Amino acid sequence: MSAIESVLVENRVFPPADNFVKAARVSGMAGYQALCDEAEKDFEGFWARLARENVQWTKPFTTTLDQSNAPFFRWFPDGELNASANCLDKHIGTPNENKTAIIFEADDGAVTKVTFKELLARVSQFANALKAHGIKKGDRVLIYMPMTIEGVVAMQACARIGATHSVVFGGFSAKAVNERIVDVGAVAVVTANYQLRGGKELPLKAIVDEAIAAGGCEGVKNVFVFERTPTACNMVAGRDKTFGEILAGRSSECAPVPVEAEHPLFILYTSGSTGKPKGVQHATGGYVLWAKVTMDWTFDAKPDDVFWCTADIGWITGHTYVCYGPLAAGVTQVVFEGIPTYPHAGRFWEMIERHKVTTFYTAPTAIRSLIKAADSDEKVHPKNWNKSSLRILGSVGEPINPEAWMWYYRNVGEERCPIVDTFWQTETGGHVITPLPGATPLVPGSCTLPLPGIAAAIVDESGNDMANGAGGILVIKKPWPAMIRTIWNDPERFKKSYFPEELKGYYLAGDGAVRSEDRGYFRITGRIDDVLNVSGHRMGTMEIESALVAKTDLVAEAAVVGRPDDVTGEAICAFVVLKRGRPTGDEAKAIATELRNWVAKEIGPIAKPKDIRFGDNLPKTRSGKIMRRLLRSLAKGEAITQDTSTLENPAILDQLAETN
Ligand code: PRX
Repeated sequence: MSAIESVLVENRVFPPADNFVKAARVSGMAGYQALCDEAEKDFEGFWARLARENVQWTKPFTTTLDQSNAPFFRWFPDGELNASANCLDKHIGTPNENKTAIIFEADDGAVTKVTFKELLARVSQFANALKAHGIKKGDRVLIYMPMTIEGVVAMQACARIGATHSVVFGGFSAKAVNERIVDVGAVAVVTANYQLRGGKELPLKAIVDEAIAAGGCEGVKNVFVFERTPTACNMVAGRDKTFGEILAGRSSECAPVPVEAEHPLFILYTSGSTGKPKGVQHATGGYVLWAKVTMDWTFDAKPDDVFWCTADIGWITGHTYVCYGPLAAGVTQVVFEGIPTYPHAGRFWEMIERHKVTTFYTAPTAIRSLIKAADSDEKVHPKNWNKSSLRILGSVGEPINPEAWMWYYRNVGEERCPIVDTFWQTETGGHVITPLPGATPLVPGSCTLPLPGIAAAIVDESGNDMANGAGGILVIKKPWPAMIRTIWNDPERFKKSYFPEELKGYYLAGDGAVRSEDRGYFRITGRIDDVLNVSGHRMGTMEIESALVAKTDLVAEAAVVGRPDDVTGEAICAFVVLKRGRPTGDEAKAIATELRNWVAKEIGPIAKPKDIRFGDNLPKTRSGKIMRRLLRSLAKGEAITQDTSTLENPAILDQLAETN
C-alpha cells in the first residue's frame, strides 16, 4: 500500500452491513445510544439492571455502588456469588450442557474437546484436590501453566473454592516467579513439567524449583505438576505432586463456595512506570459481570459461535476472554497451545478453517508478523484457507496501524467482518473503548467510542476536558464494575498511580489519546509514562534498567527507551555504560549478547533489549538528569535537532548513535 493511500485510509469509514445490524445484540447506533442514555440517566440503576440480568447471585445485592471510601470503590457489596458457577454450573440443565466448551488444539495439532458438563466435572475434581490439600477461601494460588485446558481448569477451580489465583505468564523467569510468589504470599503453585511451543519442550517445573529455592517462599506447601509431556522432571518429596496423584479417585462434584462480590477473584501482575510490577487486584462480582456483558456487546456472542482469543492465560486478555468471558457467555471456544508460526505461518488461518471459527481475537503484532510472512511466502497467505465461518474480528493490546487494519479486514475478514479494535488494560478488567460490531461505523486505527456506562474522556494535566482534535490524557471519570480494586499490598501506590490528586478523582489510564473532530472517535496515541508495549506485552523501562544494573560486575549505568518497530510495535533499546569502559567491535557484540541473556534470566525473554548501545556516559543535564528524549531520538536513528545546550557532555551523542 502506498504512503498516500495509507494516509487516506484513516479517514475511510466502514459502516456495519444491514443484515449484521438487524441480527446484532446491540443493533445500530440507536441501540448503542439507548444504552448510553440509560447509563446517563440512572448510572447505578443501569449497572444494577445489567448485574441482575447477567450474573447469578447466591445472595442478591441491595446496594449497587459504595463510594464512601473512593477511590476504593465497592460494587454490589452485599451480594454474593461464585465466578465458576457463573461460567459452568449455570449451563447445566440448559441446551449448553452438552455443548463443546473448549476445543483444545495442541502445539502438534492434536485436538481435544470438552463439553460444559465435562469441564464442570474436571474443575470440581481439581477444586476438591485443592481443598484436600488445605487450600481454602482467601488463600492465594500461583499458576504457572501452559495454554491448556488444565490451565483454565486450575483457574476455575481456585474461583470455585474462593481461592485467589495469580497467573504468571510461562515466559517469565524464575526471578520473576519468585518475586510474585513472595509478594502475593502464595500457599501453592500449579505448574506443568514442561510446555510445548513451536515443537520445543520448555521447562516450567524447573523454573518453579529455582524460584522457590531463591527464598522467601516458605508459605508454599504444595506444588501441583501437570504432566504435559512424558518427560520426567524433578519432584520434591512431600511438596510436589502430579495431577495424576492428586486427582485419582477424587469426586467430580464440588459445591461452589459463595463469596462476597468484592472478594478478590485474582491478582495479576503488570508493569508500571516505576519499581517492581504491581499486583492488580480484581473483585469477583463486577469482573464476572463485565466479562459476560462485553462478550455480548463487543463480540455479539451467539449460541452457535466458535470464539477464539489467541491470548495466553498469563495476560489479562487470557483471563477475561479465555478463562471467564466465553464460558460465562456459553459459547464454544478454541484454546491454542502453540505459536502462530509453527509449523507454518498460516496456522491461524488453517485453524479458523478447521474449527469454523466465527469470532477471532488477536493482537496487531501477530497480524503484522503474519502479513510479513504472507508477503514473502504465498503458501501461508490467508487466501489459501476457507474463512467463510468468520463474522467478527478483534484486535487488542496495542494500537493497530491502518495498514495492518486494512490487511486484516480484506484478507482475513474478506471485507465482510467488522473489526473491533478493543482498547482496555489489565486494570480495566475488560473492554472500555471499542466499536460494537453491529452498531459502530469503523475507522481504521481508531478504537472509536466508550462502551455504555464508561465515562472515558480526554483531559489536560489539571483534569479539564480537551476539545476534539486536541490530544491529551485519557481518563475515565466514573467508576465501573470491573475496575482494579487496589494494588495488592500497596493501596497507597494504587491511589497515587491511578487517582492522582490533580486529576479531580478521575481514573488515569496512562495513555495519551485524541478524539476525532468529526465523530469524537478515540485514537490511542500511546503510553504517557515509562511503560513500553512490545508485541502487546507491557514492560516498564525502569524494570529493564534495574535488571541491567543488577549485573554489577559489568554495568555501571543503563537507560532504556522504546523505539517504533514494524512488527512488534515498539522495540526495547538500552543505552549502557560499562564499568570497564566502552567496548567496540566483537567485544561489544559479545557483551550485548551476555546482557540480553542476563535480562532474559532476570525478567524473561520478552524483556530482552533488541538494541544495546554502549557509551562512556549517558546524555545528562548539568544537574545529572538523563535526557531521555535525546535517547529516544538516538534509538530511532534520527538526527538530533533538539536543543542540547543544557547537556553536560554533548560528545556522548555521537558514541550512542552507533549501533553494534
Ligand atoms: O497502551 C495501551 C495498550 O495496552 C496497554 C494495556 O496493557 P495491558 O494491561 O497489558 O493490557 C493489554 C490487553 C488489554 C494500554 O494502556 N492497548 C491495549 N489495547 C489497545 C492499546 N492501545 C491501543 N489500542 C488498543 N486497542
